Amino acid sequence: QKLPKNLSPNPKPTISDYPDLRKHNNCMASALTPAIYAKLRDKVTPNNWTLDQCIQTGVDNPGHPFIKTVGCVAGDEESYEVFAELFDPVIKDRHNGYDPRVMKHPTDLDASKITHGMFDENYVLSSRVRTGRSIRGLSLPPACSRAERREVERVVVTALAGLKGDLAGHYYSLGDMTEKEQQQLIDDHFLFDKPVSPLLTCAFMARDWPDARGIWHNNDKTFLIWVNEEDHTRVISMEKGGNMKRVFERFCNGLKQVEHLIQERGWEFMWNERLGYVLTCPSNLGTGLRAGVHVRLPKLSKDTRFSKILDNLRLQKRGTGGVDTAATGDTFDISNLDRLGKSEVELVQLLVDGVNYLIECEKRLEKGQDIKIPSPIVQFRK
Ligand SMILES: *[C@@H]1O[C@H](CO)[C@@H](O)[C@H](O)[C@H]1NC(C)=O
Repeated sequence: QKLPKNLSPNPKPTISDYPDLRKHNNCMASALTPAIYAKLRDKVTPNNWTLDQCIQTGVDNPGHPFIKTVGCVAGDEESYEVFAELFDPVIKDRHNGYDPRVMKHPTDLDASKITHGMFDENYVLSSRVRTGRSIRGLSLPPACSRAERREVERVVVTALAGLKGDLAGHYYSLGDMTEKEQQQLIDDHFLFDKPVSPLLTCAFMARDWPDARGIWHNNDKTFLIWVNEEDHTRVISMEKGGNMKRVFERFCNGLKQVEHLIQERGWEFMWNERLGYVLTCPSNLGTGLRAGVHVRLPKLSKDTRFSKILDNLRLQKRGTGGVDTAATGDTFDISNLDRLGKSEVELVQLLVDGVNYLIECEKRLEKGQDIKIPSPIVQFRK
């Protein structure tokens, strides 16, 4: 008599559990060979996080034929070490050749070094810089227990209460907000929405929503901290207009103070010199920094050279409604493409120079003059 399928003896689970990745276009699927899977399948991090849990989001979301997604997340700081044979090639693929085994990631939060950081406000409508920070010793959002998530909230909110002057503000817990207050903050681009994107839900990040989630902001709503969304914290500096230098100054100053306040209480951020700041998604390692502007480019955006110019300047365009919105119309969210291998100062300067170049092109097109595609920027010396 035949056993039902799920009771049949399975002598090599490490091989027969290998996921079907034939239709996939993501970095995880490119990197995960059957041999690597077999070697890592039964390993666990100190928090018992597994390889299968890291890759589930990428197994369930094959990706887009033209847009290569990442396809894996870390459950804790140690995931990047224990599963390095998967994460290292993913990082190399995603970060333009950065090799975490031999390269070192620089950090520089000295905003005074930025030059030409004031944009022409006839074109730039708003400026924003964001990053993420994780609290060492607590599991990341895909893996954390309810208790750990609440501990992240407690550590961060207690520290933030120490901010003074222009940075002083309040914490608003998602669970205590009315629907109306929540929607207002989302519409104003201040607050995150519940993760509904399959990428985030398959990475187990929407569990227990809205428990221990919230937003802290200063009284002017120019310095904001999201708690327990995709990362333990997301730190954002933003304002209307084109003063990117001032936005970055507030970002650096605020971040340093937050770090200091957290350290005073015996905690620290996850960081190492190979990966920089350690975050949930490998795409955000390094600086975790996205500096962006909403900029009006009605003529340049209709020019066939627009995409090539952005590529060569290592800039990325999105719609102004957020990460999943189409870039149509006259106004775009333009930001730095890279996160790892260059410092915060270098990335913001790259964005500043790039956006100034785009505005210059727009002005030339207004006058009927020709524009040039700039030569490609080298991400880092190898
Ligand atoms: C991990 O799993 C082992 C075996 O089930 C267990 O003894 C240990 O307490 C777990 N560790 C954590 C941090 O949950």
